[in-house]
Amino acid sequence: MALRHFLTLQDLSKAELETLLQRAVQLKNQHRDGIDSRPCEGKVMAMIFEKSSTRTRVSFETGMAQLGGSALFLSPNDTQLGRGEPVEDSARVISRMVDIIMIRTFGHDRITTFAEYSSVPVINALTDEFHPCQLLADMQTYLEHRGSIRGKKVAWVGDGNNMCQSYMNAADMLDFELVIACPEGYEPSQALLDKFSNRVTVVRNPAAALEGADLVVTDTWASMGQEEEKKLREKAFAGFQVNEAIMELAAPDALFMHCLPAYRGLEISDTMLESKWSVVWDEAENRLHAQKALVEFLLAEMAK
Ligand code: CP
Ligand code: NVA
Repeated sequence: MALRHFLTLQDLSKAELETLLQRAVQLKNQHRDGIDSRPCEGKVMAMIFEKSSTRTRVSFETGMAQLGGSALFLSPNDTQLGRGEPVEDSARVISRMVDIIMIRTFGHDRITTFAEYSSVPVINALTDEFHPCQLLADMQTYLEHRGSIRGKKVAWVGDGNNMCQSYMNAADMLDFELVIACPEGYEPSQALLDKFSNRVTVVRNPAAALEGADLVVTDTWASMGQEEEKKLREKAFAGFQVNEAIMELAAPDALFMHCLPAYRGLEISDTMLESKWSVVWDEAENRLHAQKALVEFLLAEMAK
C-alpha cells in the first residue's frame, strides 16, 4: 500500500505528472467516445468544502460518478468540523469510512495536518497557498492546444496568490519560464521565489511579462477570504488588467487562461473570455478529466 497525498504539484514526480496529463487527455477522449472505464466501482470520495465552489464540486462529483464511484459533499454548516471538532479527529474518523478525501480550505497547514492524520489519500482542492488541481487542468489544456509547454514563456499577471504559486511549482516541474507581473506588496512567497529563481522572475510592468509570452494567465485580484480588501486591491491592481490591447504583445499563437470565476472590467476586459486567445472553457472542462486521472492514480497507488 502506498499512501500518496496531492497537496501541491510537488507531491508528484516530474514523470508522474507528465503521465497523468497524458492520461487526462486519454480519459477525455474515451469519455467523448462513450467509453468510461470504472476503476472506482464502490469507492467513495468525501468532499470537504470550507469555501465556495462551482467547478471543483461539479468536476469531482461528476468525475467520481464517471469512474464508477460516488462522492459526499460536506460543508462546515453541516459537519462537526464547522463546530470546531479538531482536524486531527475529523481526519481519522472520515478516512476510516471513505476511500479518498478532497478538501478546500483556508490555511495550507490545515490540509497538511488533515493529511498527516488521514489513512487515505487527501487532495488539495484549493488552499490560501496553492490550487494544484487547477494546474493539472491548465497544463492539460496547454498540451491539447499547443503540445509540450517545456521551454515556453508563461506570463502571470496579477496577484501572487494560490494560483500564481501553483504556476511556480509547475514551472519547476514542467521546465517553463514564468514571468510574474504584480504590484509591490502582492508578490508570491519569498521562499518560493528563492527556491525557483532559475525559472521565475517578478516584474512590475505587465507589458514586460507579456512580451513574446506563449501563455498569459490571470486570476481575481481578491481571492476568497480577502473580500474586505476588494476596494483596496482594485486600486493597487489598476493597470494590471489583461485585455485585447495588451495581448497583442504576446506571441502570435499565445493562449489566455483564467481559472474562473472571472471579474469582467477588473482583472480582464469585458470581452477577454470570448477573445481569440481564450481557452477558458476548455480549461474549466479539463478539471473533470484531469482530476479523474488524479483520483485513478492515487487509488491505484493505494492498491499497490
Ligand atoms: N477554478 C475553480 O476552482 O473554480 P471554483 O471555485 O468554482 O471551484
Ligand atoms: N485565487 C482564487 C481562485 C478561485 C478558484 C481564490 O482563491 O479565490
